[in-house]
Amino acid sequence: MGNDRRPEDMVRITTPELAQAFIDEQIALVKEQVGDKKVLLALSGGVDSSVVAALLIKAIGKQLVCVHVNHGLLRKGEPEQVIEVFKNQMDANLIYVDATDRFLDKLAGVTEPETKRMIIGGEFIEVFAEEARKLEGIEFLAQGTIWPDILESEHGIKAHHNAGGLPEDMNFELVEPVKILFKDEVRIVGKQLGLPDNMVYRQPFPGPGLGVRCPGAITRDRLEAVRESDAILREEFAKNGLEGKVWQYFTVVPDFKSTGIKDGKRAFEWCVIIRAVNTTDAMSATVEEIPFALMNHLVERITHEVKGVNRVLYDFTPKPTGTIEYE
Ligand code: XMP
Repeated sequence: MGNDRRPEDMVRITTPELAQAFIDEQIALVKEQVGDKKVLLALSGGVDSSVVAALLIKAIGKQLVCVHVNHGLLRKGEPEQVIEVFKNQMDANLIYVDATDRFLDKLAGVTEPETKRMIIGGEFIEVFAEEARKLEGIEFLAQGTIWPDILESEHGIKAHHNAGGLPEDMNFELVEPVKILFKDEVRIVGKQLGLPDNMVYRQPFPGPGLGVRCPGAITRDRLEAVRESDAILREEFAKNGLEGKVWQYFTVVPDFKSTGIKDGKRAFEWCVIIRAVNTTDAMSATVEEIPFALMNHLVERITHEVKGVNRVLYDFTPKPTGTIEYE
């Protein structure tokens, strides 16, 4: 299929009209490539896979089979949004797999960050491959590869993050309809395809999800505290005009407790660390100046609403020396 590389003279997609022209062109190319065969897609809910899903639903409808694996490390409301947008609104052929217990059981007691990453990545492929084996007649695998992924893998910076990984007997032909686009173009195309703003303009979220924000061995209670405090932070940033302005913001719940007081009694509980940073390339980052009144409000809400938390801290560390994530 054509369009393997971004043409040197390709006009940057900046308008709905340019996005629509790209969508029409890709729909024709996908139809030509796939014919009446079936295509499989791992739909994480992230920008790239969501845009690929929306585009392929337009091109081939129910011939696309989307698999959403919930590894239990997603943010509050994310699996629900994937189901609402793709199954309910776009009528996608969507398989939802709740693999939370499987992932958390495998991760129990594992403290080393890279081992945690490997378990999450490996288990993800396993669950996805199991679902794929249950399906008949799949010949294609769709992926949300984008142009910077291809450039980075060519320059040896990182392995092409999507390609490969599946067991060798699963020999699918790839369908990669956004592989010549830059990230900003993917978002404009996604918007034109009717995806909601909070999906298209969402902040970066790591593959291992909340797992790297629950440092050390992941426990369900701490993971819940991360998820609930993150939801409060996101809600307050949206209400206070910081959503879309701050590059990345989240909470971390480290593996230690400190003494506090709740309802007049000693409360030996977790603390929540808030991180909010700005960057252009994630290689270095500066810390957002959160208004003090908002900070006080966040402390008030998190200590009252999140179970098992009695203290809130703000991380003032730029990158370097601190990385953005804690693991
Ligand atoms: P660090 O922590 O290295 O993060 O300063 C830089 C950016 O990369 C994201 N990040 C990840 N993304 N898988 C991902 O898909 C990962 O394992 C991972 N680790 C960090 C991080 O969220 C930040 O945007």
